[in-house]
Parts: sequence; structure tokens; C-alpha cells
Amino acid sequence: MKRRLLFTLSVSALALFAGCDWEWGAIGYNRGYAPEQPIPFSHELHAGTYKIQCLYCHSTAERANHSAVPSLSTCLNCHNQIAKDSPHIAKIQTAVSEETPIAWNKVHMLPDHVKFNHKRHVERFGAPNACHKCHGPVETMEVLYQHSSLSMGWCVSCHRDPAHQAPVSCSTCHY
Ligand code: HEC
Ligand code: HEC
Ligand code: HEC
Ligand code: HEC
Ligand code: HEC
Repeated sequence: MKRRLLFTLSVSALALFAGCDWEWGAIGYNRGYAPEQPIPFSHELHAGTYKIQCLYCHSTAERANHSAVPSLSTCLNCHNQIAKDSPHIAKIQTAVSEETPIAWNKVHMLPDHVKFNHKRHVERFGAPNACHKCHGPVETMEVLYQHSSLSMGWCVSCHRDPAHQAPVSCSTCHY
């Protein structure tokens, strides 16, 4: 089953090379993608001006394969007191009391056939340096955007860096 998937992957890789529109490690993809969010949450304000640590809100980036956006109760740790009169904060309070989540729009998205593991990368490079390597200067982003291409070439060229000695076999990153 696994073999067959890899075979299919290799064949389509060849097809892509032949098609010439395969840009190895290229710019493009969703770089710069910055969807509008249901609440205008600013990383510039929170992580920049107020220097709140990335892991305070994204604690799972250190512990799990997946990072995640914080729960609204994390926001209320501060916003029970701060900016209570803001309509945006009121929206958070209503959502919490009615137990309806706020649907943040996903910014980064790898295809399903790719394995990715936050914990390993964050352990290796340490937060917040690790976050910066892949997500760029988040503390300057009023609206969060995708900084890196997330293309295969981007992943592989970092793995190939002799200083990193990271695995590069197909099965490292593909199911
Ligand atoms: C006060 C809480 C808070 C802090 C501190 C914070 N974030 Fe966030 N982060 C959020 C929220 C809420 C979202 C979802 C809304 C958005 O995308 O702006 C988010 C979204 C993101 C996303 C995009 C997720 C996706 O959908 O792909 C990345 C990447 C990210 N944060 C990285 C960081 C980094 C790196 C830092 C530290 C420099 C940081 N964040 C600090 C709350 C926080
Ligand atoms: C560690 C404290 C802290 C946490 C946690 C925090 N914030 Fe804030 N937030 C602040 C501070 C400080 C301000 C600036 C308030 C001001 O300018 O009066 C602010 C401002 C805001 C504003 C602008 C309010 C307005 O309308 O002027 C929004 C929206 C906001 N935060 C959303 C969030 C969300 C969403 C979360 C959770 C993901 C969150 N904050 C978590 C401290 C925090
Ligand atoms: C080696 C590159 C890399 C590093 C280092 C990294 N990320 Fe990510 N991050 C990604 C990729 C790739 C995705 C998209 C993952 C996916 O779609 O499965 C992502 C997605 C996210 C998301 C969205 C998760 C979701 O479920 O919607 C958040 C939040 C995030 N990263 C925060 C962080 C924080 C905070 C750090 C530092 C502690 C960090 N990342 C370090 C590459 C990285
Ligand atoms: C900034 C450099 C860098 C980037 C960019 C990067 N990686 Fe890595 N990756 C590493 C290093 C270094 C390791 C080895 C970590 C260790 O020694 O534990 C690693 C390890 C891994 C592992 C092995 C984890 C395990 O459990 O064995 C996977 C899977 C992985 N990376 C996938 C990806 C994917 C997919 C991308 C692109 C979306 C990516 N990486 C981008 C540096 C990077
Ligand atoms: C370090 C991680 C990594 C390694 C190693 C890796 N890939 Fe990928 N691969 C990715 C990522 C991320 C994507 C999705 C982004 C893209 O299409 O560029 C991808 C996409 C692909 C695609 C495109 C699928 C599509 O939907 O168009 C093919 C085919 C592929 N990889 C085959 C391979 C083969 C064959 C190998 C071994 C020679 C390999 N990959 C090794 C990370 C990796």
C-alpha cells in the first residue's frame, strides 16, 4: 500500500518535471497569503509591542506534531480586564459564554500526503528562533501572512544543508 503510493508519487513527479511548470524550491505557491480573520487579531501588537511569547499562545508547537491556534480562554486571561469595551473583545466573551468557537481562517496548509512535525523542528532550533526560520518576522505582522513557500524544494534545501543533517528520503515527508 505504502509502496504503491510512493510509486504513484514518483511517477507524478516525473510527469511534473516533464510538464516544465514544476518550480523546484521556487517562489509562488501561497506565499503572502493573508486571509481576513473574524477578529482583527494583531501579532504586531501582541508578539511585537507587548512581547507575548509565541508559545504562550501556541503551546502545542513544542509538544505535538501540530501547532494550533489558542483557545479563546487564553485570550480572556488578559481580556477579562484589558480592552473590555472593544466590540472585538465583546465578541470573544459572547463566543465563550455561548460555547461557539470563532472560526479562524487557516493560513498555512500542507497537502495531505505530506508529514510535518512541529515538535521536532522546534526542539532542534528552539523557540522563537525556530518559528522565525519558517514563519518569518511574525511580530511585525499586523495581519498574519504566509512567509515561506512551503514547497518541497524549500523543505528539502534546508534538510540538505550539511549543518542540519536532516533526513531526505521520500518517506521522511510522504505517507
Ligand atoms: C496572544 C496570542 C498569540 C501570540 C502571543 C502569538 N500568536 Fe500566533 N496566532 C494567534 C491567533 C489568535 C491566530 C489565528 C488568527 C491569525 O491567523 O491571525 C494565530 C495564528 C498564527 C499563525 C498562522 C496559523 C495558520 O492558520 O496557519 C502562525 C504561523 C503564528 N500564529 C505564529 C506565531 C508566532 C511565530 C508567534 C510569536 C512570534 C505568535 N504566533 C504569537 C495568537 C497568538
Ligand atoms: C498577555 C495578555 C494578552 C493576551 C493573552 C491577549 N491579548 Fe489581546 N491585547 C492585549 C493588550 C495589552 C492589548 C492592547 C489594549 C489597548 O490598546 O488598550 C490587546 C488588544 C487586543 C485587541 C484590540 C482591541 C481593540 O479593539 O482595540 C484585540 C482584537 C485583541 N487584543 C484580541 C486578542 C485575542 C483574540 C486574543 C487571544 C487569541 C488575545 N487578544 C490575547 C493583551 C493580551
Ligand atoms: C520547519 C518549519 C516550521 C517551524 C520551525 C515552525 N513552523 Fe509552524 N508551520 C509550519 C508548516 C509547514 C505549517 C503548516 C502545517 C500543516 O499544514 O500541516 C505550520 C503551521 C503552523 C500553525 C497553524 C497550525 C494549524 O493547525 O492551523 C501555527 C499556529 C504555527 N505553525 C505556529 C508555529 C510556532 C509558534 C512556531 C515556533 C514555536 C512554529 N510554528 C515553528 C512550519 C514551521
Ligand atoms: C529551517 C530548516 C528546515 C525546514 C525549512 C524544514 N525542516 Fe524538517 N527538519 C529539519 C531538521 C534539522 C530536522 C532534524 C530534526 C532533528 O534532528 O530532530 C528535520 C526533521 C524533519 C522530519 C523528521 C521528523 C521525525 O519525526 O523523524 C520531518 C518529517 C520533516 N523534517 C519534515 C519537513 C517538511 C515537510 C518541511 C517543509 C514543509 C520541513 N521539514 C522543513 C529542518 C528543516
Ligand atoms: C523534507 C520533506 C520532503 C522530502 C524529503 C520529499 N518531499 Fe515531496 N513534497 C514535500 C512537500 C512539502 C510537498 C508539497 C509542496 C509541493 O508540492 O511542493 C511535496 C510534494 C511532492 C509531490 C507533488 C505532489 C502533488 O500533489 O503535486 C511529489 C510527486 C513528491 N513530493 C514526491 C517526492 C519524492 C519522489 C521524494 C523523494 C525523492 C520526495 N517527494 C521527498 C516534501 C518533501
